Amino acid sequence: MLMVMRRLGWLGRVMIIAPSVLTANLADLAQSCQKAVDSGLDWLHLDVMDGNFVPNLTFGPPVIRSLRKALGPEPVFDAHLMISNAETCFQDYIDAGCNHLSVHVEAATHLHRLVTAIRAAGASVGVVLNPGTPVDAALEVLSELDLVLVMSVNPGFGGQSFIPTVEQKIRRLKTAIDAQVAAGGRPVQIQIDGGVKSHNIAMLRDWGVSNCVVGSGLFNEKASVQENLEIIKAALEA
Ligand code: DX5
Ligand code: ZN
Repeated sequence: MLMVMRRLGWLGRVMIIAPSVLTANLADLAQSCQKAVDSGLDWLHLDVMDGNFVPNLTFGPPVIRSLRKALGPEPVFDAHLMISNAETCFQDYIDAGCNHLSVHVEAATHLHRLVTAIRAAGASVGVVLNPGTPVDAALEVLSELDLVLVMSVNPGFGGQSFIPTVEQKIRRLKTAIDAQVAAGGRPVQIQIDGGVKSHNIAMLRDWGVSNCVVGSGLFNEKASVQENLEIIKAALEA
């Protein structure tokens, strides 16, 4: 799997900025994604919502399959599965072209079985923690993971405010991952999702985050993806 992650190119990068297409123009999703890819953002965060696990409904494997056909093989498709039945349908997302699947601990009865099955199916794998979910659930399966996604908003919608109480969760996670790597174990990305903007992204990097999902901070009426990305990059370099 390390080869997969190396192919995905994240090993050794300082910070991955993963555009969330939820706040993009969903009427022309492929073009919105292409704008992100043309700006150099090759890790696309696809927010899959089933209207049951979260109070919103977005898209599933058929749309993802079309996106993969439109965008070609290069961009990383990171599917954030906000669905109640990931244990029975995860293969459909891999078949549709996803490289990475992140599954909610709150929606998995048999989390260890699920994450090992996703890896065995050839995708990289992450678990997602809602703001109210303790980090311990991720620590129990940390040795099986490529990524832990810490939600900094309650899932379902873009454009929400960042929940700062996730700081301690991230710091505990970073300590556990550093210990795992020091003992010869797998490196694990800390991804954060929700309310990430230019004003807080450098702080998140300092907490130990290595992958930031950005939705409305990139896709908005104020500026283009490229212009918004420059503002975010400048904040990281300041
Ligand atoms: C929320 C999604 C997030 C969201 C991020 O349920 O998982 O990816 O789209 O959007 P912003 O960056 O606007 O909070
Ligand atoms: Zn998301």
